[in-house]
Amino acid sequence: MSYQVTLLPGDGIGPEVAQATVRAVEATGVPIEWDCLELSSKTLEAHGEEIPEYVIESLERTRVGLKGPVTTPIAGGHQSVNVMLRKRLELFANVRPVRSFPGIRSRYSDVHIDIVMFRENTEDLYAGLENEVIRDVITSLKVITRAASLRIARFAFEWARKHNRRRVHAIHKANIMKLGDGLFLRCCREVAQDYPEIEYKEMIVDNTAMQLVMRPEIFDVLLMPNLYGDIISDLVAGLVGGLGIVPGANIGERHAVFEAVHGSAPDIAGKGIANPTALMQSAVLMLAHLGETEAARRLQSAIEWVYAEGKYLTPDVGGTAGTAEFTDAVIRQIQKGT
Ligand code: NAI
Repeated sequence: MSYQVTLLPGDGIGPEVAQATVRAVEATGVPIEWDCLELSSKTLEAHGEEIPEYVIESLERTRVGLKGPVTTPIAGGHQSVNVMLRKRLELFANVRPVRSFPGIRSRYSDVHIDIVMFRENTEDLYAGLENEVIRDVITSLKVITRAASLRIARFAFEWARKHNRRRVHAIHKANIMKLGDGLFLRCCREVAQDYPEIEYKEMIVDNTAMQLVMRPEIFDVLLMPNLYGDIISDLVAGLVGGLGIVPGANIGERHAVFEAVHGSAPDIAGKGIANPTALMQSAVLMLAHLGETEAARRLQSAIEWVYAEGKYLTPDVGGTAGTAEFTDAVIRQIQKGT
C-alpha cells in the first residue's frame, strides 16, 4: 500500500526545493503517490483569487500535504495563499521545531537551542478584518476567541506531554491588550492545570524577544497567538542559522500540511542554489505524522550528517554546493543507512 500525499511545489524556489525533497523522501523507500498540483500566485489570479477547488479536493482526499512557498503580493492583490489554506482547512496549529544544527555557524553555535513553537493559526490580526473608517484611518481587528485559544493550548500541552518536554511559555501582551490577550492567557492557564508535570510560565512578547536573543537556552515550548507566533518563530529560526533550514507544519483535526518556513526567495529562484533543508525537514515531520518514524529518523540523520561533514552545503549556510549536489549527498547518506 502506498500513502497518498498532495504535493504543492509553489513558485519561486518552491519547485526546486520540492523536487529535491521528493527525491530524498523516495530514497527512504516509503511508498508515496504524489498528487502534484500547481498553486502559485498565477493560478490564484486565474481562479478568481480563491484556492482552486482541485487543491482542496486533493487535500480532502489525501489529508496530507507537502507545500513549497507561494509568492504573496505586498499591499494589495490577493490574500496570502497560506493564510487562505489554513483557514479553509481549519489548520489551527502551526508547529515549528527549531534545533541547533551541527555544522551551521550561527551567533549561537556554543548554545544548544531546542525550541518547539506552537502558533494559533486561524485568528488574531490574521482574521483579515480591516476597515477604512474614514479616509486615511484604518482599523484592523484582532480576534481572539476562547474556543481557538483552548484548542491551540490543548494541542501544545498534549504534544509537550507526548514528547517529554519540561516547560511551556505562553507569550502575550496582556498588559496592554487586557481583553484579547487576557482571554488567551486565561485559556492557557486553564489547560496548563491538566498537565502538572509540565512547568507553565508566561512572558510578555517584547521581553520574550530580548530573552530569546540573550538566553535562548531557557526556552523549551512556546505557545503563542498568531501574530506574535509569526514574528517570534522567524527570530528563533535566525538563532540557528536562518529560514533556509527550519521546518514547519500546519495541523488541523482532519488535515496536515507540512511546509518550509521560508518564502519563495525570488532573488535566487532558478539559480539552482536554493537550500532544500527546510522542506526536507518538513518532510521528516510528515513521515513521522504518517507513522513512518524510522524513515523520518533516517532522513533527519542523513541531513544532519551532511551538515556535520560540511562538504556539500548551499551558499546561504556558507557552502558552495547547489541544490542538487546537497540532495545527492543526503541521498547517498540515506542509502548508506546512517
Ligand atoms: P524569503 O524567505 O523568500 O527570502 C528571504 C531571504 O532568505 C532571501 O534573501 C532569500 O534568498 C533567502 N532564502 C529564503 N529561503 C531560502 C532557501 N531555501 N535557500 C536559500 N536562501 C533562502 O522572504 P521574502 O523575500 O520576504 O518573501 C518572498 C515572497 O515569499 C513574498 O511574496 C512572500 O509573501 C512569500 N512568502 C511565502 C511564504 C510561504 O509560502 N510559506 C512564507 C514567507 C514568505
